[in-house]
Amino acid sequence: MSGLGFNKIAGATLATLLVIFGLGELTNIIFKYEPPAKQGYAIAVAADASDAGPVVEAPIDWGTELPKADVAAGQAFVAKCQSCHNFAAGGGVITGPDLYGVVGRKPGAFPGMAYSSGMLAFAAKQPVWDYDHLSDFLTNPQKYIDGTKMTFCCVKQRQDRINVIAYLHTLGSNLPIPAPKPVAAAPAPAAASGAPASGAPASGAPAAATAAGSAAAAPAKK
Ligand code: HEC
Repeated sequence: MSGLGFNKIAGATLATLLVIFGLGELTNIIFKYEPPAKQGYAIAVAADASDAGPVVEAPIDWGTELPKADVAAGQAFVAKCQSCHNFAAGGGVITGPDLYGVVGRKPGAFPGMAYSSGMLAFAAKQPVWDYDHLSDFLTNPQKYIDGTKMTFCCVKQRQDRINVIAYLHTLGSNLPIPAPKPVAAAPAPAAASGAPASGAPASGAPAAATAAGSAAAAPAKK
């Protein structure tokens, strides 16, 4: 009797499973799934932004970026460097030179460090580690300085480099932070169209341009 009960339950379960899986199959047959040609959501701008990458990276305006950089994130990032570099004053050489004060220092000049000939050749051309050269070096050390002993690769992300360099700058650097570039603050097209209008003398200019010119010039007078 109990055996019969078990069979009934087993039969019912099997039938249910058949219906469930059968339904799935059936739905697949009815609503044939066409995979999209391109995976993911189509966002028009996303492609441009990701393609920009480090290859055609816009120059970094250090005067704008450094003051708003995330120094704490930069400090956290350099955990990756600490197997080879000290960051404390007087910390000395590990595999690489002490990086305390490296921003604004002469490349290849930390006492007691046996630099590669590649780094010394670079130092012969480049008197200081400024922001751009540090950024270019960290983007891909071995590609930037042929024969460097620094086997670490790489600080690929632009914002990571900005944060790391902002942190390095806090370590006893005497290199001043440049003034922000004014063009970077305003959207380029507005600045471009505003400049000739306000710069041109009003004589002979169409009324609209004069109006635009004086409107643009007004805030500047204050
Ligand atoms: C595997 C070890 C290693 C790691 C990890 C490493 N470096 Fe280096 N680094 C070196 C060596 C070695 C040199 C000297 C290179 C040479 O002589 O060519 C160097 C040189 C440098 C220099 C030039 C210093 C000078 O005195 O001219 C900077 C700047 C630098 N590293 C920054 C970093 C930063 C920032 C990180 C982490 C994001 C990092 N390094 C990670 C080994 C390392």
